[in-house]
Amino acid sequence: MRLRISAALNKGMTHQPLDGCTREGEANAMTEKLHNIIAPYVGETGGLISAMHAVQAELGYLPEDVLPVAADLFNQTKAEVKGVISFYADFRDQRAGANHVRVCVAESCQSVGSRELVAALEERFALKLGETDLARELTIEPVYCLGLCSVSPAAEVNGKLVAKADADKIAKRVEA
Ligand code: FES
Repeated sequence: MRLRISAALNKGMTHQPLDGCTREGEANAMTEKLHNIIAPYVGETGGLISAMHAVQAELGYLPEDVLPVAADLFNQTKAEVKGVISFYADFRDQRAGANHVRVCVAESCQSVGSRELVAALEERFALKLGETDLARELTIEPVYCLGLCSVSPAAEVNGKLVAKADADKIAKRVEA
């Protein structure tokens, strides 16, 4: 698949407005879905974290509605749930793009050019680290060690590790 990402594309996307009934129906369906995913983890040690991983595995992200549902089921405040979620960099609040690039920005990789790699990717794809383009074709995110420190800088493209990563290697895998 050839990416069509550009700054112009990002600015040009529009969304169809939803009417009130549709929006309410979708919200109820999402609440029920979240409840079904989260409920089995209530009472388990570390259940909240496991439940959040389960939601992200199922939906690809943690929607806003996860806060009230999880708070209710785990008998915590929404702020407490949010505190747990925001502690872990792996949780995201938006669906990732069809292509998912993670670049290691931890110390070992930084010492051999991961900052420069991030800058090269940001320029190439007209995206900032942590962003997804509006067409949802690509997400670029930071990660803190991929276990490839001896062959850094390290990255991951769609779940596959890339040793001695550079922008060309990553782009080739994204566009393959
Ligand atoms: S610090 Fe980058 S892979 Fe370990």
